[in-house]
Amino acid sequence: MTKSELRKQALTERNSMDDRLVSRYGEIIANSLINHEWFILSKSVFIYVSMGNEVPTHAIIKNALARGKTVSVPRVEPGTQMCAVPIKNIEQDLKPGKLGILEPKTYLQPVSETCIDLIVVPGLLFDRSGYRIGYGKGYYDRYLNGVERNSPYCRTIGLAFHNQIVQRLPRDSHDKPVMLIITEKQTLVCAAKK
Ligand SMILES: Nc1ncnc2c1ncn2[C@@H]1O[C@H](COP(=O)(O)OP(=O)(O)O)[C@@H](O)[C@H]1O
Ligand SMILES: [Mg+2]
Repeated sequence: MTKSELRKQALTERNSMDDRLVSRYGEIIANSLINHEWFILSKSVFIYVSMGNEVPTHAIIKNALARGKTVSVPRVEPGTQMCAVPIKNIEQDLKPGKLGILEPKTYLQPVSETCIDLIVVPGLLFDRSGYRIGYGKGYYDRYLNGVERNSPYCRTIGLAFHNQIVQRLPRDSHDKPVMLIITEKQTLVCAAKK
């Protein structure tokens, strides 16, 4: 299957997930993440704001803020770039952006990727090597390419439900794998990065 066929199928499947399962599995995934060494040690986390049936991140964001971490969330800038904008309060600092996703209000200023030590990445599908299929705009590929160049010690963790993990996905040269994937069933170390 092509990426776009896989994307469509995965989106349909995820949209059909029961709300109660999304929150039950989401809680398990959030607990694994917030107890993971990489999260505990991180001082500055870049994490997506979940919408629909994505693995929920609101509780994770609140936990990270309560633990005194710098928490940045994505904002899509005009063009094709996504930036990381630190927020202090999930209720006050966000508003719906162009894609309907909650984004930091425009007066909040982005930080450089060199300030971030952990990135929590969403995805429609992941494979066992950490490659992913997103919504098809390549925002995370572009961002992670920049991170690889400028912030070599930054770590990446993908969050997914177990039914979003497949053996192998098609890969383009611009695709960047994550280092670790957390699902409700397991934490997958994606050692083979290439
Ligand atoms: N580092 C990059 N530089 C330029 N274009 C990129 C880069 N990464 C991704 N893209 C573009 O983004 C588009 C979507 O990428 P794709 O991997 O299919 O989507 P997604 O990762 O969101 O599932 C592609 O057409 C690709 O050319
Ligand atoms: Mg990609």
